[in-house]
Amino acid sequence: MKKKIFKIYRYNPEKNKYPYMETFSINFKKTDKMLLDVMIRIKSEIDNSITFRKSCREGICGSDAININGKNGLACITNLKKLKNPIILKPLPGLPVIKDLVVDMKIFFKQYYLIKPYLINKNILPKKERLQSQEERELINGLYECILCACCTSSCPSFWWHPKKFIGPAGLLQAYRFIIDSRDTNFEERLNFLNDKYKLLKCKTIMNCLNVCPKNLNPTKAILKIKKLIFINKIKTFFKK
Ligand code: SF4
Ligand code: FES
Repeated sequence: MKKKIFKIYRYNPEKNKYPYMETFSINFKKTDKMLLDVMIRIKSEIDNSITFRKSCREGICGSDAININGKNGLACITNLKKLKNPIILKPLPGLPVIKDLVVDMKIFFKQYYLIKPYLINKNILPKKERLQSQEERELINGLYECILCACCTSSCPSFWWHPKKFIGPAGLLQAYRFIIDSRDTNFEERLNFLNDKYKLLKCKTIMNCLNVCPKNLNPTKAILKIKKLIFINKIKTFFKK
């Protein structure tokens, strides 16, 4: 079988002054279906110092998000047949590299926690549970499925420019998930928090996020809906005065 070429970003801060690209060639086996299968073989058969994250191998944990031939994605669900030779693997852009393909996700999760990603309900607890109608439940479809892989946020130029101030597509998608959840009573506070020239409004609708999401979610749409709700809320407040 024809050899395939991999060019992999290498950087070990304890040994290398600068990062570099290393080339590996390997024959695909019949059992190699997804990119992660071959990455694991390169590590076990050629160079066990290559560092990358992985866990579920099912597109669920989000830990193996990397940049594959210039586009962010999950190695475990990237079909090898769809990849052009040479296969170029780099860490997610816009996040500090810890080693090789492993990035530091602290800033990503810091932005995510700022939006208070949990239900807030100030009403008295019902005896059993907080019920939703079928229609109310449907509103969170296309939002709750996010696996926090950071493919979207790390592909966003606004996040590269303002990582400490702009919440980023993943965090904003989750913000909208709680804003429209009928069981959450923090609607006003959530909108007021986001109504800020950096946190939300640094989104310039570049739409890289929706092109890379492995779950086919649409953070751009969620962000536009938040902007619309803020606008409507402002008008309502104005007429109440
Ligand atoms: Fe990953 Fe999609 Fe969630 Fe972004 S919205 S973190 S790309 S699953
Ligand atoms: Fe879990 Fe790929 S290893 S999403």
